[in-house]
Amino acid sequence: MVLIAPSLLSADFSCLRQEVEKLGNAGADWLHLDVMDGHFVPNLTFGPQLIKSLRPYSNLVFDAHLMVSNPLEMIPWFIESGADIITVHYEACKDMEKASEMIHSAGLKFGVSLKPETSAEVLQGLSDKIDLVLVMSVNPGFGGQKFMDSQVEKISKLKKMTDGKNIKISVDGGINVETGAKCTEAGADVLVAGTAVFSGGDYEKNIKALRKEF
Ligand code: DX5
Ligand code: ZN
Repeated sequence: MVLIAPSLLSADFSCLRQEVEKLGNAGADWLHLDVMDGHFVPNLTFGPQLIKSLRPYSNLVFDAHLMVSNPLEMIPWFIESGADIITVHYEACKDMEKASEMIHSAGLKFGVSLKPETSAEVLQGLSDKIDLVLVMSVNPGFGGQKFMDSQVEKISKLKKMTDGKNIKISVDGGINVETGAKCTEAGADVLVAGTAVFSGGDYEKNIKALRKEF
C-alpha cells in the first residue's frame, strides 16, 4: 500500500505540536519535513531544533528533506534532531558516498532527491548506497505548485532501475488524488502531500482519499 507523507510546510505554524499529533491520529505514515536554507531554494523554513522539539510528540517516521546548499555540513545536525530519514539533493551534495556513510553509520535511512531537470540516470552506480529516491514534481521551494506531468516518466524509469532493490520511490510536489494516482501507477511507494492533506481541515478524509480508500 502507498505510504502518505504529509508535508509540515502546509501546517498551521502557530501550533505545530497539535498539527503533528493530529496527523498521527489521522493515519499519516510519515511526516515530511521541508528544510529550506534560502540559498539552495528561494525560501527559508526551519532547522533541526524544530524537528527535535516535535520528536517527543510523534511516532511517525520523520522524513527530513534538506533543500540546502551544504548538506554534508548539516547532516550531523539532522542526525541529532531525531529524524529517521535524511534526504539530500543530488544537485547540492558534493560527496554522495560520504553522505550515505554518515547517515547509515548513525542507523538512519539515506534518501537522494532529484530536481525536475535532473535525470534518473545520475543515480546509476549509487543504488547500493541509497534507501529512497525523492522525485521532485515541482521546482523545490514552495508548497501549492502545479504537478509536472513530465516527472511520471522519471518515476517509471526509476522503478525499472531499482527493480529487486530495497529502495523506495517517493514523489513530492503538487500531489492530489489524480496526480497521486498517476505516480503510484508509475511505481511510487510514497506520496508527499502538503496542500492535499491540509486543505479543508479533515486530514483523515484527505489521507484516505490519497490512498484511494473512500
Ligand atoms: C516543495 C516541498 C514540498 C511541498 C509539497 O519544495 O518539498 O514538500 O511542501 O507541497 P504541495 O503538496 O502543496 O505541493
Ligand atoms: Zn519536500
